[in-house]
Amino acid sequence: MARRHDIFLFLCILPFANALYKQWIPDTNYDNATNWDKGSVPCGNDQAVFSAQRKVSVYVETAHAITGMSLPVDGELILASGAGFTVREGEDPGCGSGVTANFKDSESLKWFDPSLWVAATTIDDLHSGAYQFSVHEESVPCQYDDVVFRETTSFRVDVSSGHDVPVKSVSVLGKKFTSNSEFSQYLSSNSGKLQFHGSSSLRVGGSGCDDTTGCICDNSGNRDKICSNVKCDSLECKKPLHPVGHCCDVCGAIVNVQFSSKFNFESYRQRLQHLFLIQHKYESIQMALSKVSKEQRLLRVIPFGTTQEIQVLLLDQKTGQEAGKLAEALARDIMQDVHNQGLNIGITSAEFEASSGASSSEAAGNNTGVVVGAVLGSLLGVGLLAVVVMLYHRGIVRLPKMPSIPSFSKRKDSSDIGELGGPLDHGFDNPIFDKPNMMPEEPGLYGTEMISSITLTRSGVHFVNPAYDETDFNA
Ligand SMILES: *[C@@H]1O[C@H](CO)[C@@H](O)[C@H](O)[C@H]1NC(C)=O
Repeated sequence: MARRHDIFLFLCILPFANALYKQWIPDTNYDNATNWDKGSVPCGNDQAVFSAQRKVSVYVETAHAITGMSLPVDGELILASGAGFTVREGEDPGCGSGVTANFKDSESLKWFDPSLWVAATTIDDLHSGAYQFSVHEESVPCQYDDVVFRETTSFRVDVSSGHDVPVKSVSVLGKKFTSNSEFSQYLSSNSGKLQFHGSSSLRVGGSGCDDTTGCICDNSGNRDKICSNVKCDSLECKKPLHPVGHCCDVCGAIVNVQFSSKFNFESYRQRLQHLFLIQHKYESIQMALSKVSKEQRLLRVIPFGTTQEIQVLLLDQKTGQEAGKLAEALARDIMQDVHNQGLNIGITSAEFEASSGASSSEAAGNNTGVVVGAVLGSLLGVGLLAVVVMLYHRGIVRLPKMPSIPSFSKRKDSSDIGELGGPLDHGFDNPIFDKPNMMPEEPGLYGTEMISSITLTRSGVHFVNPAYDETDFNA
């Protein structure tokens, strides 16, 4: 008993990474008025008609009186207990004059349509409607997700994709499939064939996400299929953003977060929820948090590998002049939080961009100009050093006394950190700790360019070099 308790505690502490429950919205329930062309469930004087050629699995929750019914050639009615049909004798006074109600066609509903899914962290959240917003590629099930078809529903979904569609589990009619052999058996059953159609093989039994820093959904292979179901709005902001995994450009803001192994994806989501999204002024904001893979580019041109980062996409529902402004305000709040608490929650740096054109690199004066400036400054410094060394060898000049150099570089470094917005209380009065340890541990708060510029300033050219003052290159 004690052991079981331990395990339970362990599971409570170990937070679920970013695997979600994804629930299919539409159903093919007889009792759902939206499934009938007349917009209401057939009543006592009505005829219920299922198109003869349509394959359909229909779930019936309650007892119904009707005057007649045409059934499809290949279909099924799943009756819940107490459900059934009676043919009414005489008029149903509450039913009008009697119509022919046609059951709507659900043939075209696609697995890869992001608008047909809702997502939540837990089953409870799913039931209570505490859904999460996601970028389009992550709105449809990812390989780590649990897929849920509501317990008392049937459905018909087109899973066509041309290749395997892996997920962790699939729940149908209250039964959860986690083993692929069992699920394939279900797929070849009568109900399975009516519910899932199309050319792909849906595969369950994936491992789930066990990386607490999050997992990459990786639906990019299905991007075309996903995005073909999405219609993008026309945008009114100055500099629309292109979030990774989203089909449309957006007005809003994106915060990109670099993290360490200490980072916890789900705790961070909750942190943002409880610190910011809960605030009244931010209630209209939609936030999509995802781990993404980004190509690294030296000086923004030469690719040299990929890194993983956390993308925080913020959208407000504002239009016109106001589009994206609120999201930008929240992005700035999040940056401030990273500045204050980042190291404690495993965030090494962050940067943001907003559709107004504002970005953290602008705020820090960090742009390609600075990097080029730093490079030129360093080259100039190296050149100058070479000249001095040469002159020294020829006995023309003498080196200045050494102590002045460390004190200069120390001052220079601390002001660099200050500009970056990184914590200043990190022991920079110790020159030994300061230089080799501190910098790698805290790569520039505002991205890789800054890292390169710092590296360059550390490349041994801490020389009294007037050309190297960064502010000169800012203009
Ligand atoms: C009826 O179907 C619609 C769309 O398919 C769905 O959004 C709605 O939740 C269903 N209603 C009920 C009561 O399940």
